[in-house]
Amino acid sequence: MGLTVPLLETKDISYSYPDGTTALNGVSFFIETGEKVALVGANGSGKTTLLLILSGALAARRGEILLRGKAAQGRGAALSKAVGLVFQEPDDQLFMPTVAEDVAFGLLSAGVAARDARAEAIACLGSLGASGLADRPPHRLSGGEKRIVAMAGILVTRPEILILDEPTSGLDPVARRNTVKSLEKMNSTMIIGTHDLDMALGLCGRVLVMHGGAIAAEGEPREILTDGALLRKNGLDLPLRYS
Ligand SMILES: Nc1ncnc2c1ncn2[C@@H]1O[C@H](COP(=O)(O)OP(=O)(O)O)[C@@H](O)[C@H]1O
Ligand SMILES: [Mg+2]
Repeated sequence: MGLTVPLLETKDISYSYPDGTTALNGVSFFIETGEKVALVGANGSGKTTLLLILSGALAARRGEILLRGKAAQGRGAALSKAVGLVFQEPDDQLFMPTVAEDVAFGLLSAGVAARDARAEAIACLGSLGASGLADRPPHRLSGGEKRIVAMAGILVTRPEILILDEPTSGLDPVARRNTVKSLEKMNSTMIIGTHDLDMALGLCGRVLVMHGGAIAAEGEPREILTDGALLRKNGLDLPLRYS
């Protein structure tokens, strides 16, 4: 890292849920501007908790979060302004009467004129292969369709740091490919929690393996995701491409 300050950094953060479950146990992590980092790990390894903390939705119980070297702890405004989070569960995010309004909402809040916001929303849905959903009510969509719409609502705002939790889970192959292509085209800094190791291999420049609330391994995708023994030790398996 030398003299440069990472865009986003955590130092030794820990988190326990109110029922006492320890979800993170001393996670130190950094991401540089423009990097795309995959966070992989078995169910319960702490991926979602870490993503929620990085986006400011949860406050770490111990440790520090730094945005450009400055403390940005907990629900800090600086953090939520810089980060766009696509939740694992799309129902947490969709609330407008139609899909187009839902996707345009973030742009409208940012002061974009209504007509431009709608046009951008529809273009973004189009890039995800979902322009046909524009006038549908979000609560009537299938799980996979909801996921695409929730993603469009965040992608359209072009956040500086894009955080996605399982963006391809539950998508059919065409929707998955559209999603991966859209993410490839965006030059936002990205942190992606995923079980889709094939996506991580093609899209990301670095992979972190989580295990038991800590980072168990880190490196280039081609190094980490071809190491069957390492993956199995951490509750994972080789990407389809290598199995
Ligand atoms: N709301 C919650 N209350 C209590 N424990 C939770 C809650 N959410 C997650 N956990 C626990 O925290 C740990 C990490 O979970 P999570 O961050 O969701 O992992 P992952 O996203 O890798 O599956 C697990 O042991 C999980 O059971
Ligand atoms: Mg999760």
